[in-house]
Amino acid sequence: MNVTHYFRRIFQQSCAIGYQHINQQFKIFGVSRRTMSKKSVYITRTINKEALDILTERFDVASWTGPGPVPRDELLKNIKNKSGLFCMLTDKIDAEVLDTAGKNLKIIATMSVGYDHFDVNEIKKRDIKMAYTPDILTDATAELAVALLLATSRRLLEANQEAKTGGWKAWSPFWMCGPGLKDSTVGIVGFGRIGQEIAKRLKPFGTKRILYFNRSEKNVEATKIGAERVTFDELLTHSDFVSVSCALTPETKNLFDEKAFGKMKKTAVFVNTSRGGVVDQDALVEALRNGTIWGAGLDVTTPEPLPLEHPLFGLKNCVILPHIGSACVQTRNDMAVLTAKNIAAALNGEPLLTELIV
Ligand code: DGY
Repeated sequence: MNVTHYFRRIFQQSCAIGYQHINQQFKIFGVSRRTMSKKSVYITRTINKEALDILTERFDVASWTGPGPVPRDELLKNIKNKSGLFCMLTDKIDAEVLDTAGKNLKIIATMSVGYDHFDVNEIKKRDIKMAYTPDILTDATAELAVALLLATSRRLLEANQEAKTGGWKAWSPFWMCGPGLKDSTVGIVGFGRIGQEIAKRLKPFGTKRILYFNRSEKNVEATKIGAERVTFDELLTHSDFVSVSCALTPETKNLFDEKAFGKMKKTAVFVNTSRGGVVDQDALVEALRNGTIWGAGLDVTTPEPLPLEHPLFGLKNCVILPHIGSACVQTRNDMAVLTAKNIAAALNGEPLLTELIV
């Protein structure tokens, strides 16, 4: 063995001893090196196995498994040093959460299409990626909007209550009547993916006109569907049914106020499947009480859940659902899987499937 070989051998042996020593130290603390280098993800709710497996195969995962949304103090305790956050629309993601998480946080993925629970500016400032779940919940949400519209206009819940409590004496010619869709004008506020699918589903009921109000023009889509772009005021004045499917933004907050309800037909049915914040709820209560509009169907309210003593619950012409727009089994599974895949992609340095860019 020459001198060069000798020193190379010594160097290799020293490295091997060092490596073994490091491994030994990790073993003493009961962890393997692979575990030590794994990125970590926090999930704010119990999710389906398929989505969970995507994350547990690759990362250290901790979840909130208690009932309901993760309490704020739990979220703050568990987000520290995490690389990824899998959250819901019930989790407010603001500067406090981001500061507590620290510099490791690279991706925040919400299992929802709505992202009004994100403080987008704070997230962007920290260069953290955002992901959401557009498209896959469009059909389920549009379906629910149609169901809610019909439940409200045809008084399904009220009629069911009458049937169950003895109010059903005999078939009566003008009892439990409500407005029908045939030959009606439907106004859709927010003509994105969900708004368009609502329109498509309502057309076969024999509607006369479909109007839409949207920030940007949707000419191509509207022409295919046979919808007409109008101003907000025109939509309110002419529609027999007003269905809301726009995002909650500073521009749409309280869009439906006393003035807006005042412009609607007295026979109009108002349906909201977007966010409670687009409605001034006190104004809606008054509009329903005074007969300014005929009825309302709400899948979303402010706050959620709506307190049991809220006046809206006391109104027969208001149907309230507990935010179930996307609540189809397959849809919710797909939403969770997509959220998990977005996190996995971000933490592996790959492009996100549905990155939220605003
Ligand atoms: C969403 O994804 O934002 C919906 O409101 C959930 O149903």
